[in-house]
Amino acid sequence: MAAKNTMRLDKLLTMLGEGTRAQAKDYVRAGRVTVNGVPARDSGMQVDAENARVCLNGRALEYKAVRHVMMNKPQGTLTTARDKRQKTVMDLLPPLYAAMDCMPAGRLDKDTEGLLIITSDGQLAHRIISPKKDVTKVYFARVDGVLDESDIAAFAAGLHIKDSDGEFDARPAGLEIVSTDGQTSEVRVRVSEGKYHQVKRMLASRGAPVVYLKRLQIGALKLDPALEPGQWREMTDEEAELLEQEANDA
Ligand code: URA
Repeated sequence: MAAKNTMRLDKLLTMLGEGTRAQAKDYVRAGRVTVNGVPARDSGMQVDAENARVCLNGRALEYKAVRHVMMNKPQGTLTTARDKRQKTVMDLLPPLYAAMDCMPAGRLDKDTEGLLIITSDGQLAHRIISPKKDVTKVYFARVDGVLDESDIAAFAAGLHIKDSDGEFDARPAGLEIVSTDGQTSEVRVRVSEGKYHQVKRMLASRGAPVVYLKRLQIGALKLDPALEPGQWREMTDEEAELLEQEANDA
């Protein structure tokens, strides 16, 4: 039989989205919380998270063992769980996600926007970003410069990158030229690895430095176009399914 998922009541209330641990303690103290119909007196009591019926002000709370978030990461935020000085993507989410040990699956640069997966399933996060698995990522970029067929061919053949950050052979990648005004261009790049500043370095190596970068897709999972930068939502069951498949197939 699977081990019971028991935890302190105040922790569980936080994981159910009902504020911080301190607020959860206050709710219990004020007699606003019941567990299986009985008013809770001790916020440290052990509760079976999956089976107990926990109510706040008479309203039953829904427990989810796993949560997956889709975020449109805004520019100016770090993709780390915590930072003393700078704003991170976790600061954009209510405390429940930190309480569930949610973590970003992969990184975007501070100035990159777009699709970021944040999940409480650490194993899934690692499977998605593992260098051994070649999950495809699609980016939209605005670059200084004009790209042409020779750049598309060079991307497809696999670029050799040598710059101030080091040297590596990039795997064959897709480059699609969306538009150009003769000075700048808009492109789509499809890569199956995640080296440091990969897309920026690939485009810079063709004389087209990136001025704006946004991730559109990870595997089959696409950024919801309704999400503005800084907005997020939990994934639908279908999206969560796609994510699981991606992690398994990869
Ligand atoms: N490639 C980059 O250069 N930056 C990102 O943030 C993601 C991919």
